[in-house]
Amino acid sequence: MKVVDPTQGKAWKNLESLAQQVAPKIELSAFRDDAKRARSYQKTSKDLLFNYARNLVDDRILDALLELAEESSLRSGIEALFNGEKINGTENRAVLHTALRRSDRSGVLLDGMDVLPDVHEVLDRMKAFSTALLDGSHTGFSGKPITDVVNIGIGGSDLGPLMAYEALKEFGPGRIKAHYVSNVDGIHLHRCLAELDPETTLFIVASKTFTTQETMSNARAAREWFLQAAEASGVQRHFVAISTNLEAVAEFGISEELTFGFWNWVGGRYSMWSAIGLSLCCSLGYDVFEQMLRGAEHTDEHFRSSEPSENIPVLMALIGIWYNNFLGWSSHAILPYDQRLHRFPAYLQQADMESNGKYVDRTGKKIGHQSGPIIWGEPGTNGQHAFYQLLHQGTKNTSCDFIAGARSRHPYDEQQEILLANFFAQPQALMNGLDEKEVRVNMQREGIETDKMEQLLPHRIFEGNRPSNVFFYKELTPFVLGQLVAMYEHKIFCQGWIWNIFSFDQWGVELGKKVAKGILSEMKEHAPGAASDAVTQELLRHWERWK
Ligand code: F6P
Repeated sequence: MKVVDPTQGKAWKNLESLAQQVAPKIELSAFRDDAKRARSYQKTSKDLLFNYARNLVDDRILDALLELAEESSLRSGIEALFNGEKINGTENRAVLHTALRRSDRSGVLLDGMDVLPDVHEVLDRMKAFSTALLDGSHTGFSGKPITDVVNIGIGGSDLGPLMAYEALKEFGPGRIKAHYVSNVDGIHLHRCLAELDPETTLFIVASKTFTTQETMSNARAAREWFLQAAEASGVQRHFVAISTNLEAVAEFGISEELTFGFWNWVGGRYSMWSAIGLSLCCSLGYDVFEQMLRGAEHTDEHFRSSEPSENIPVLMALIGIWYNNFLGWSSHAILPYDQRLHRFPAYLQQADMESNGKYVDRTGKKIGHQSGPIIWGEPGTNGQHAFYQLLHQGTKNTSCDFIAGARSRHPYDEQQEILLANFFAQPQALMNGLDEKEVRVNMQREGIETDKMEQLLPHRIFEGNRPSNVFFYKELTPFVLGQLVAMYEHKIFCQGWIWNIFSFDQWGVELGKKVAKGILSEMKEHAPGAASDAVTQELLRHWERWK
């Protein structure tokens, strides 16, 4: 693997000078009526359109960014990803989530072994099992059909399927409802179980490691709840496991028949395409899940075969790098104008921040440049009534992705039009702003007195020049969702590659877990000690009194 400090190349230096010399002169409102730019800074991939014309870039900047990709050997990085090279260097693992959505049944080698037959074997079993649940041939212990599946998992074993279930609910037959319990806060499980009947509930314990404290604690509590109504043998019909740790699964008491494996070359936050997607198959039907895989595969082909200048994930990554590393912006908002994507920002928080929130490069040296940005967001139009004030007039710089579909799956045409009018309006308003002259004309029209006008004027001016990307699609089908998610996955990969960091490990989550373990044993002993610092000890004293 070629290791490159991106800051040492010519492209980086060139971009630094473009950021000084050219960027301050870009006035986005000058492109207000520039149809050529609107069309040329736009790429489509099937029914998914990506428009990046509202960014603080011009051809020179884009060329320099493409040069940076070239200097970082991004093309060979992409091949290394697809070819199963061990690009997760600290865990010595390949990163092959793209193999999970390959429709070919053979042809992806890892250490000389083809991984695709195993992938398809698990997919075939997922299909058979979910079909048996949906057609009622796999019943609960009392013979009643299953009506609810509860996915117990956290992080990558929760966020992906939860996000996709919320996005695609209307595509399912509606016979089986999916629920997602992730937080170790017992109220999450409690509220979920309060609505359910043990005779008709199936639990999916989803954990790559099968050691995650939150998931295992919730799984044990769910099993106890179930055993209040059923014989121990019922566990074999009502508990399914998804894991790479088959020994721990067997120890928990889940049968081999209801265990669905995956592999250590699938990162948790890239695992929704593996058996981790089982809750989707059981609730929405296997065909819906398969369509998602096909959409992601379509993006994989686009990503692998398109020239960088035509390549949507590469362009997303490079534009992000421009703001993050050269203009000094640290915040990126995901703004779906599609309520069905209401968990998409949360999903991308893990995908992006757990992947690229690193300060050490691939050789172990502290990096001298910025890595992953802060990812956040909420669906429009709710966000407009919460944080858009800051987007329009705040002092923080945030780049934004606006996402919407032309159609939705509800009968309310008026609402859909209003939603889309807002989706079209907001990025336009952010870009063009409202200058003093226009504000004065507006206030005169409103009949505001001259004194009041002078007082209000600065508050009502919008400087504009605030950039954004747009994703627009015909309809959020399972295929389009698959396409969209894979676009972001590959964007994250490209950025990590160029920043010269390892995107596929997550050592940063370990310390907190270890400290919590020490504190937990001190809590159990009622003896705050070395694991707790002074503030924690103070809080523990209150906890003892208040609990
Ligand atoms: O948050 C840390 C993490 O390891 C994630 O990377 C992972 O998605 C999550 O915990 C859950 O892990 P597991 O699937 O092993 O329970």
